Amino acid sequence: MNPQPDTLTAANLLGDARILWQLLRGQPARHRDGAPSNAAAHAATLQNFYAPQAERYDAFREKLLHGRRELIERLAISPGSTVIDMGGGTGRNLDYFGARMLSLARVEVVDLCPALLQQARRRCAQWPDVAVAVEADATTYRPQAGANRGLSHAHSHVDCVIFSYSLTMIPDWRRAINNALRILRPGGLIGVVDFRVSRRDPPPGYSRHGALTRRFWPRWFGHDGVHLDAEHLHTLAARTEPMVCEERMAAVPYLPGLRAPYYLYIGRKAGRDAGRHAAPHSAQESAV
Ligand SMILES: C[S@@+](CC[C@H](N)C(=O)[O-])C[C@H]1O[C@@H](n2cnc3c(N)ncnc32)[C@H](O)[C@@H]1O
Repeated sequence: MNPQPDTLTAANLLGDARILWQLLRGQPARHRDGAPSNAAAHAATLQNFYAPQAERYDAFREKLLHGRRELIERLAISPGSTVIDMGGGTGRNLDYFGARMLSLARVEVVDLCPALLQQARRRCAQWPDVAVAVEADATTYRPQAGANRGLSHAHSHVDCVIFSYSLTMIPDWRRAINNALRILRPGGLIGVVDFRVSRRDPPPGYSRHGALTRRFWPRWFGHDGVHLDAEHLHTLAARTEPMVCEERMAAVPYLPGLRAPYYLYIGRKAGRDAGRHAAPHSAQESAV
């Protein structure tokens, strides 16, 4: 289900215009202000937002959610690994694994939004022995114990957890990180790509965004239920051993001149067994 290159047809442009309009208009105030009271309310909010865009989600997000392919390509995971894509949406990241998909033991796309999971299930069908889409909350999800190629998937045996543009949409993002660290084996990897703005006075080595950037982007994304928070990256860097940490600016489709700050992070969970599946990172590492 690797999407065909997006052609400039009237239907595609109209589809993009609808999505752009939805993003500019934002979610109704009752959905956007603060965290929904529980997982069911949050799931309903996500479904309400994404269901009208689900068919064209991948094509539009290809132009907006930068760095996903690079994140997946830079994850040094070995054959036989188990990967959980938290807030994995349509499962687009599976395509970025390319031929590596068949070498993995299991890849689970975990999401709360049924409309996006429907797309993910179609995609997972390409790798029936490896990939599965699961409707669950990233803050509490535990991989199912179950055999796949003879491997057990008990807690703390996951080799890699990915959050691509999902941490900013998870109201209790600290709990999501805690949960990821709980299910990761010692030495396992957490890979994150997402939008962010900096603290007003960031520590040395991190970007410092001006006041306009720090105000504009959280407001812009906030009305779509995407909550930019400088603390995501600092928390990740404090809780894992940073292996890749890069901050960048992303073009916004159809809005020339607008560039949104985002980051790419790969960290390793501390503990013994660090080398079990992790391949050497030396050529890929960059300092914080
Ligand atoms: C911007 S989309 C990114 C989707 C996908 N990772 C990608 O790169 O295309 C954010 C995703 O997070 C999911 N999400 C938000 N909160 C969640 C939660 N608590 N548990 C699981 N998924 C969640 C949404 O349904 C949505 O699919």
